[in-house]
Amino acid sequence: MQQTLSIIKPDAVAKGVIGKILDRFETNGLRIAATKKVQLSRQDAEAFYAVHANRPFFNDLVDFMISGPVVISVLEGENAVLKNRELMGATNPKEAEAGTIRADFAENIDANAVHGSDSVENAAIEIAFFFSGREIS
Ligand code: CMP
Repeated sequence: MQQTLSIIKPDAVAKGVIGKILDRFETNGLRIAATKKVQLSRQDAEAFYAVHANRPFFNDLVDFMISGPVVISVLEGENAVLKNRELMGATNPKEAEAGTIRADFAENIDANAVHGSDSVENAAIEIAFFFSGREIS
């Protein structure tokens, strides 16, 4: 069993597709071990994406992630990290395979509907960033 962190980003929350996206996880074998709707502060977003601090898109990414509430979940299942990334599709929705979350719900590489941890190691770090142990079951 693996756990991974999922964020439904402000664009998808504003579109009213929280339920449709969570359904993709559940119908594809990813159990929702924790979930919450949160308005991130600038400090939250900068700290969460600190690994991208030197990338040219960093400021736009932070501005976007605090532009409205997000839904943050811990997903659990066999190969959860890879499974979630397959369900999400490519970072750039224009390159995302048909039937993936980003192909169906995302507009562009900034407003790309969802975030998912890219490795088991980062999943543990990202989960601990947003959730305490008692919030996960
Ligand atoms: P996410 O998986 O949340 O991780 C970092 C985010 O930065 C990424 O999704 C994209 O929404 C955003 N981003 C914007 N431009 C780029 C880029 N050129 N490469 C990667 N990520 C980008």
